[in-house]
Amino acid sequence: MKIGKKIAWALLLIFVVMQFIRPEKNEDTSDHLAAFLSETNPPDPVLHVMKTSCFDCHSNHTVYPWYNQVAPINYWLADHIEHGKGHLNFSAWTEYDTGEKDHKLEEIYETVESGEMPLKEYTWTHGEARLTQEQRDAVMDWVRVTRTRLASNALPE
Ligand code: HEC
Repeated sequence: MKIGKKIAWALLLIFVVMQFIRPEKNEDTSDHLAAFLSETNPPDPVLHVMKTSCFDCHSNHTVYPWYNQVAPINYWLADHIEHGKGHLNFSAWTEYDTGEKDHKLEEIYETVESGEMPLKEYTWTHGEARLTQEQRDAVMDWVRVTRTRLASNALPE
């Protein structure tokens, strides 16, 4: 067999084996967002933005696209989700103290205002996740109100 052919067969074999070794899915079905939602109380348009543009990478539950069936795409997505959750996980809201919550909210404001979030790689394949200026403004308003509220709650009694 020619070397090129051998390499092609080896690659094919690796590809096939890869399909059977899957990264664990991010699919918590409990009420993992309850604490975040009750404390920050996002109005419907903001909640809609979160659901369509943020929760897939920043919560414990991802709605996977069909191509997540295919390795190595599933590894690539798992990596994005892990990385995204490492920076901000709405399902882990109770693990942040007031200062951290405030900082996360500030970063949400900045990344949404600048268009850094949601990531381009995501909006290429999720057209509905692209934010309009109106949606950005709604998120920014909600952040302002929520930070003010958190700050006043944090004052000593
Ligand atoms: C495709 C996955 C994905 C989506 C969708 C996504 N993010 Fe992210 N986000 C990431 C990753 C990965 C990081 C880690 C930093 C980086 O690589 O830019 C991150 C980082 C962040 C950070 C922390 C920034 C910092 O400097 O540490 C904030 C805040 C954030 N995202 C907010 C959002 C908001 C709000 C949305 C929805 C409007 C959103 N993200 C949508 C993947 C995503």
